[in-house]
Amino acid sequence: MSLLEIKGLRVFFRSGDRTIKANNSIDLEVMDNEIIGIIGETGCGKSILGRAIMTLLSDNTEINGKIFYKGEDLLSLPESKLRTIRGKSIGIILQNPSAALNPVLSIGDQIAEVFQYHEKMSKQEAKMKTAGILKMVGIDPNRMQEFPHQFSGGMKQRIMIAMGMAFSPELLIADEPTKGLDPETKDSIVNLLRNLVRSKNMSMILITHDLDVTEKMCDRVAVMYAGEIIELASINNILAAPRHPYTKVLLGSLPNKGLRSVPGESPSLSSPPSGCRFHPRCVHAMDECKKDHPPMLLTEIGTEVRCFLYKGDQDQI
Ligand SMILES: Nc1ncnc2c1ncn2[C@@H]1O[C@H](COP(=O)(O)OP(=O)(O)O)[C@@H](O)[C@H]1O
Ligand code: SF4
Ligand SMILES: [Mg+2]
Repeated sequence: MSLLEIKGLRVFFRSGDRTIKANNSIDLEVMDNEIIGIIGETGCGKSILGRAIMTLLSDNTEINGKIFYKGEDLLSLPESKLRTIRGKSIGIILQNPSAALNPVLSIGDQIAEVFQYHEKMSKQEAKMKTAGILKMVGIDPNRMQEFPHQFSGGMKQRIMIAMGMAFSPELLIADEPTKGLDPETKDSIVNLLRNLVRSKNMSMILITHDLDVTEKMCDRVAVMYAGEIIELASINNILAAPRHPYTKVLLGSLPNKGLRSVPGESPSLSSPPSGCRFHPRCVHAMDECKKDHPPMLLTEIGTEVRCFLYKGDQDQI
C-alpha cells in the first residue's frame, strides 16, 4: 500500500526578480515498508523535496501540488495538525549534524526536549526515554550530559538518527546521513539505519550522493535532475540497466561505483534549458529534445524514464 503519494509537486523560491524552480512536477509514491533512494548531483532539489514533505520551507516559497500521507493532503492541513505529524509520524534526519545540533545544549537535553515538546512528558520521563533511544542507536546513555563537540562525526550522526527515530515514525526522511563519514563509520551507520527501518517496518526516503549506500539500502531509486525526477526504477534495474542518458553517466562504471561528475555545466534552476533539461549535456540529443519537454515513459523493464529515446514502443504515464 502507498504510505505517501506526491502528485504534481512544485516548489519555487522567489529571489528578487528570479524564480528558482527547485522541484518541478514531482510525482512519487512511497509504499509501506519501502526504502526509496533519491539521488542526483548537488543543487538538483533533493533536500528541498525532503523538506517539502515535512512542510518545513522558508517564507519565500511557493508550493503547489499534493502530498498525500495516508490519504490526507499535508499541504492543506492546518499547522496545528502538521505539528502532530512532523516528528511523530514522519521523522527527518537533516543534512549536516554539526549544524543541526545545538552546540551549547547537552545531547541528552536536546533529545529530551523532543519528548517534552511532543508528548508533554515530565523531565524525568523524558530522560528515561532519552536513555532508551540512545541505547538503540549504540550510544552509552551515561554520555547524555556531554555536548555535541565531544562526539565524533559518526556518533553525531547516531544522535541525529536517535532524534529522527524518537517516536518510531512510519516514514523517515534521511538527508545524506553518511556524508563526510569514513568508510567504516559509514558502514556502521548504514547497518544501523537499515536494521532500525526494517525491524520496525518503517518506510524511508534516503537522500544520498553515495551509490554504495543506495545499493545497500534501497528498494527503488528516483534520479533527480534540475528539479525533476528523470528516472524511477528498482535498485536492480538502476544498477544493471540504467535507462536515462544522465543516469548512465552519473552511475559511472565499476569498480568503485561512485556517483560520477557529469561533463558539462549544471543547469540553472531559474532559467533551465528548454525542452529536455538535460539536452545541453546529452550526447544523444535530437532536435525535438531542444523544443519539447519529455514526459515520463514506462519501459519494458518497468523503469520510468523521462527521455524521448524511449518513445514509440512505450506508454506515456
Ligand atoms: N530558501 C531558499 N531560497 C532560494 N533558493 C533556495 C532555497 N533553498 C534552496 N534553494 C535552491 O534550491 C535548489 C535545490 O536545493 P537543494 O534541494 O538543497 O539541492 P540538493 O539536491 O543539493 O539537496 C538549489 O539551487 C538551492 O540553491
Ligand atoms: S530527451 Fe533527448 S536530450 Fe533528453 S536525455 Fe533523452 S535523448 Fe537526451
Ligand atoms: Mg541536499
